[in-house]
Amino acid sequence: MFKVLLLCAAAFAQPKGRPASPAEIAPRDITVFADGRGLPPGKGRASEGAAIYKSKCAECHNDRGEGREGQYPPIAGGIGSLTSTKPRKTVGSYWPYATTVFDYIRRAMPFDHPRTLSTNEVYAVTAFVLHLNGITALDEELSEKTLPKVAMPNRDGFVPDKRPDIRSKR
Ligand code: HEC
Repeated sequence: MFKVLLLCAAAFAQPKGRPASPAEIAPRDITVFADGRGLPPGKGRASEGAAIYKSKCAECHNDRGEGREGQYPPIAGGIGSLTSTKPRKTVGSYWPYATTVFDYIRRAMPFDHPRTLSTNEVYAVTAFVLHLNGITALDEELSEKTLPKVAMPNRDGFVPDKRPDIRSKR
């Protein structure tokens, strides 16, 4: 028993491997914060994103972001519905930051081929999704500078939990 313990201690004491190199970290280090920190330089308009959306997103999210009932979520519409008896959570009705939409699309979409869009394509298709929600104009250019300034409809819809046992801070 004692011998086994000693062997375990030895295994922990000698870390194997090497630190990851900057070149290995870079492709994984893609977090974009709500305030826009971490956004890569690039740009795109909804008018350019329309074609990307049509060929790479519409089969699941439908032509105008309405989703496919019971299969794929809607990503447009539902603005103002969250306090109704039929809340419809979408990018437009729910998501508080456009920067997070960019981050999500870049890391996770298209669902069946994530991380295949170029940076400018992600800006363009994000712009198109925002446009489908009536948030940005078709010809408005979004970039690492302008995306954090986009005002999302539900930006102030999140409130701190008031229950006494929840110690959330703002
Ligand atoms: C093969 C089907 C498929 C394709 C193609 C696809 N998506 Fe999705 N998408 C999904 C699924 C499934 C989810 C939900 C994933 C989850 O909740 O984990 C989703 C979620 C999303 C969401 C978040 C919805 C929410 O409010 O939670 C966004 C935004 C989105 N997709 C955008 C896109 C864009 C933009 C494209 C094209 C570049 C795309 N998707 C292509 C299936 C797809």
